[in-house]
Amino acid sequence: MTPTTTSADSTAPSIAAANLPCATCDSGRSLFTKGLCCRDFRSALGSFATGVTIVTALSSEGDPIGVTISSFNSVSLEPPLILWSLSLNSPNLEAFRNASHYAVNILSADQQQLSDRFASRSADRFAGTPFTPGLGGAPLLDGCSAWFECVNEVQYPGGDHLIFVGHVERFAQGDAELPLLFHNGRYRQLESTNPD
Ligand SMILES: Cc1cc2nc3c(=O)[nH]c(=O)nc-3n(C[C@H](O)[C@H](O)[C@H](O)COP(=O)(O)O)c2cc1C
Repeated sequence: MTPTTTSADSTAPSIAAANLPCATCDSGRSLFTKGLCCRDFRSALGSFATGVTIVTALSSEGDPIGVTISSFNSVSLEPPLILWSLSLNSPNLEAFRNASHYAVNILSADQQQLSDRFASRSADRFAGTPFTPGLGGAPLLDGCSAWFECVNEVQYPGGDHLIFVGHVERFAQGDAELPLLFHNGRYRQLESTNPD
C-alpha cells in the first residue's frame, strides 16, 4: 500500500510555524524572523568545533584580500570540491564574487594572531604577513597546515551569507601538523595527538 501524504502529515515548516516563538529558548522571539534571531541559536551552532582558515584572493584592482573563515568544509572528492560562506555584509563580498580563484589557507596551532588580524576591520591584514602568490594571484600564507587553491566555480544564496563552492586545482600540506581550532566562541588547541 502506498502511503498518502496529507497536509497534517507534512514535515515541511509552514509559514505559521515559522512565526512562532523559538521552541528552544524563552526569548519569545522567532528563530525565523529577520533581526530577531533566537539568542541561543549562535550559541548552539558554536557547539560544532571547527578548524580556522583564511580565504584569500586578488581584487580586480590587484590588491590581496583575505578573511578569517571557519565555515570551510569538504564537499566532493571526485570532482574535488570545497565550500565556505561569507557574510553579505562583508566589504570584500564583491571582490570574492568576481575573483577567478581563491585560496583556502588552513591555519596551524600557532596562527591565532593571524586569525584575529584577518577577522579585524581595523588591522592592515597583509602588513608583515609573508605570502606567495598562488593561482590567480591568491595569497598563500606562510606557516599554514595546508593550502587549497580553487577556481571560483559557483555561488549559492544562503540567507545572510553567500555560499562559495570551489573546484580545487592545486593543494599542498605544510610542516605544521597541529591545527588551530574554534569552539564555543574560543580558540582551542589539541591537548595531544593520538599515537596512530
Ligand atoms: C574563528 C572565526 C571564524 C569566522 N568565520 C566566518 C565565516 O565562516 N564567514 C564569515 O562571513 N565570517 C566569519 N568570521 C568573521 C570574519 O572573519 C570577520 O567578520 C571579518 O571582519 C570579515 O572580513 P571583512 O570585514 O573583510 O568581510 C569568522 C571570524 C572568526 C574569528
